[in-house]
Amino acid sequence: MPLMRSTTEAHPAAFPPRLQAIGTADAPYRPMLALAELPEGTMRRVTIGELDVLLVNTDRGVFATDDRCPHMSAPLSIGVLEGCVVACPLHEGRFDLATGETVQMPTTGGLDAEGAYHPTWSPAGREPKIDPPGRKAEARRLTRVRRLRYYPVRIEDGWIEVALPST
Ligand code: FES
Repeated sequence: MPLMRSTTEAHPAAFPPRLQAIGTADAPYRPMLALAELPEGTMRRVTIGELDVLLVNTDRGVFATDDRCPHMSAPLSIGVLEGCVVACPLHEGRFDLATGETVQMPTTGGLDAEGAYHPTWSPAGREPKIDPPGRKAEARRLTRVRRLRYYPVRIEDGWIEVALPST
């Protein structure tokens, strides 16, 4: 029988540095949720002011991202979590929390935390879909669709704490 990791062994997960939210490198950590309320394999939305944060406890550790699908901003917290991949409840988008990458369409590219634009996602082995030049491509860039954006996590005294930028 496989050993189950208890919630007391949970740890912060490593995430892609280029997708770390701006303003969080030196930000203070804030208690968000008791770790006991987020067993491995579960997700929760925690709202602080106008920021909806998705807390996820996976076999890779605990992640904190915006609770917002990179496609059309649906709440990922009511989607389905399989391992480290979260499936959006609205369309068929799936996203790997460990890499920040799209696993399955639909999605429209988007901006990373630094504001660099990434073009539309394409499945492995297929030619990338080129953004048509002109107003549509410009509209995509100006829409400011965001890729997954991560917040640093730590576990302190049984609490999940997250570094949030000051507003
Ligand atoms: S809003 Fe998530 S896949 Fe469309």
